[in-house]
Amino acid sequence: MGSTMGGNFVIAGGSQGIGLELVRLLGLSADQVDVYSRSVDNLKVTDRIKHYVCDFTDPEIQFADLPESIHGVAYCPGSINLRSFRALKPEEFRMDLEVNLIGAVRFLQACLPGLKKAATDGTAGVVLFSTVAVGQGMPMHASIAAAKGAVEGLTRSLAAEWAPKIRVNCLAPALTETPLASRFFATPESSEKMAAQYPLRRTGRPNDVASLARFLLLPDAGWITGQVIGVDGGMSSLRA
Ligand SMILES: NC(=O)c1ccc[n+]([C@@H]2O[C@H](COP(=O)([O-])OP(=O)(O)OC[C@H]3O[C@@H](n4cnc5c(N)ncnc54)[C@H](OP(=O)(O)O)[C@@H]3O)[C@@H](O)[C@H]2O)c1
Repeated sequence: MGSTMGGNFVIAGGSQGIGLELVRLLGLSADQVDVYSRSVDNLKVTDRIKHYVCDFTDPEIQFADLPESIHGVAYCPGSINLRSFRALKPEEFRMDLEVNLIGAVRFLQACLPGLKKAATDGTAGVVLFSTVAVGQGMPMHASIAAAKGAVEGLTRSLAAEWAPKIRVNCLAPALTETPLASRFFATPESSEKMAAQYPLRRTGRPNDVASLARFLLLPDAGWITGQVIGVDGGMSSLRA
């Protein structure tokens, strides 16, 4: 696969939000994009973009239809369960770990043979998702920050274990306008209030994050691995 693409990509959670935009971008020039999620939602299935129904929290999950050779994998399912630590039940921590971490583990273990096969003539890419709330402590984020902190650890461990052939990187977005975060954009006033918190004075759009995810999956990012990259309007590093 050259930098002008082709290749087979497998996207967990590509039916809405950031994952859907990533599928749209990859679909412009990939040979095949396979999407796994519970429902097809807004995804347009074509001869090159296929959808498979699955729930990543199901311990019996099977991925029978994975391509033999996989050039890139992204795992997009996530959660935003914001509550005080006092109100959070241990079961909620477990659920956040299931969808954010264990689902990614199940998916990557299933994809590994295909990634190895594609990586024989170059490198294959993996992209995982964290949140700005891991690098910067935020109230009400204990459960999601713990789960995504585990994803960041997984990213660096796998990047080391799978080098030099399979690159593993992680994006850490701040608030992005997707169905997952829709409650923060319920009114024009709440949207404006959110936007005002960012040095760049706006919240994220799916393309802000998906375009970097696409880049990290492709050979152009062939010397980048083990990184957690903020896509956050400057929130994690600037005081404006
Ligand atoms: N949006 C934000 O503000 C924000 C901020 C920080 C980090 N992030 C992270 O960025 C990533 C993408 O977020 P997003 O906002 O694009 O999320 P989203 O709008 O909720 O989309 C998530 C995708 O994952 C699928 N999915 C969710 N749970 C699933 C499950 N149990 N099994 C199978 N598929 C599942 C959804 O489809 P179905 O519902 O059809 O299954 C959907 O296609 C997540 O990891 C999130 O934690 C987002």
